[in-house]
Amino acid sequence: EDTGLPQAVKIKLDVTDPAKVKLGNGSDVKGTRVRVFGRVHRERRQKEVMFITLRDGYGFMQVIFTGPLAKTYDALTLTRETSIEILGELREVPAGAHAPNNRELHADYYKIHAGWKAAGGDDAITNRVSKDTEHATLLDLRHLTLRGETASKVMIVRDAVEYAFNTVYKELRMRKVSPPALVQTQVEGGATLFKFQYYTEEAYLTQSSQLYLETCLPSMGDVYCIEKSFRAEKSLTRRHLAEYSHVEAELDFITFDDLLDHLEEVMCRVLEVTMSDPTVKQYILDLNPEFKTPERPFKRMKYTDAIAWLVEHEIPNEDGEPHKFGDDIAEAAERRMTDIINRPIFLTHFPAEIKAFYMQRDTEDPRTTESVDCLMPGVGEIVGGSMRIYNYDELMAAFAREGIDPADYYWYTDQRKYGSSPHGGYGLGLERFLAWLCKQHTVRDCCLYPRYFGRCKP
Ligand code: 4AD
Repeated sequence: EDTGLPQAVKIKLDVTDPAKVKLGNGSDVKGTRVRVFGRVHRERRQKEVMFITLRDGYGFMQVIFTGPLAKTYDALTLTRETSIEILGELREVPAGAHAPNNRELHADYYKIHAGWKAAGGDDAITNRVSKDTEHATLLDLRHLTLRGETASKVMIVRDAVEYAFNTVYKELRMRKVSPPALVQTQVEGGATLFKFQYYTEEAYLTQSSQLYLETCLPSMGDVYCIEKSFRAEKSLTRRHLAEYSHVEAELDFITFDDLLDHLEEVMCRVLEVTMSDPTVKQYILDLNPEFKTPERPFKRMKYTDAIAWLVEHEIPNEDGEPHKFGDDIAEAAERRMTDIINRPIFLTHFPAEIKAFYMQRDTEDPRTTESVDCLMPGVGEIVGGSMRIYNYDELMAAFAREGIDPADYYWYTDQRKYGSSPHGGYGLGLERFLAWLCKQHTVRDCCLYPRYFGRCKP
């Protein structure tokens, strides 16, 4: 663009006002002058030289201060996390040396603006969060923990995974909807409902958007949502949160086998899309070096076969006795089984008694339902799904059996009155999926600010 300025002025402008760049972008090493902004992630001093690793959320950059610049007061007293503006030249790192993007910024000017300095001394960030800090303290200081490499990588992978779900559902021509969080019906049992006063009535925080998704099928076709679900879980386990992100989908005119095929396709395609971003792929491998995309088809195992497997492998139920038909397979037993089999499992056909009221019975064995849990090594159940009862009378009988007043569900039962259809769906816990993908010990480290029994801050 011709600015009308003389050539000499143009060059001067380029010298005094280089382009502002984000740290992770590009791979320029040609001595281009740039201006960067970031926080001091790490700093290291040698005799005449000071190395700074700068961080801005887009990436990292090695910066070098030499000569008088390294001896300025602010450079000598520079604390980690201080925000800084730096101008300099981008050059290739010397042979044998390593730096992000294989380049380093040779600084010739820097400025720490008023109020940008981070606390030092006893109050320095390194004294508050470090490798040795207790997990509970790290969670109290989650706002600072998030600045660390592990926590931030998990959050960046999470963003990519959520984006991948949206991409894959769009590929499958599914529509996204946003059901309400404040509801007056339960989905997954009264024991984990968060109740609250809604003006003059009682209401709950939703446990699942499933019932609302079902109401969208007649006019929108297959639908999905990624919304928060809430469970008043009173147990402290590494996979239970009080508030979690629930990826839910509902599919019309399908069979149970269609549901399982779809689920396998979505999970594998989401991994493919997620891994197609080189930065995200590298972060996943940093967090989970042995990660491999699961082989298809996933193992399919009926509940009755799982019970036989648990008996055979002498893994007892919660009462310390051999498992029998009708037992809920508890978290510990489920995890041991999944870890031994060591591949994703679709565990299917659970007895009606241990599952939610809405599940369609299996015609071959009416004691059981067309239900599925997807189990992953290291985490256990990450998906729960089923075909839904679509016959009005059967649904009413299910409400009666569970002691639920169907009056509150008039909008749900109306679906069975006005053009019912065979349909099914599932819910996937995003934090559990991430715990598996990023090999995190607990789902608490897979959400921004975890909420669980005893924690509602920060
Ligand atoms: O098996 P759940 O309870 O199934 C439902 O809510 C169905 N209504 C979903 C549907 O069909 N649309 O929960 C589904 C998944 C679980 O497999 C698990 O991954 C996750 O939600 N989940 C939790 N994640 C974290 N903390 C908790 N307390 C969770 N409870 C369930």
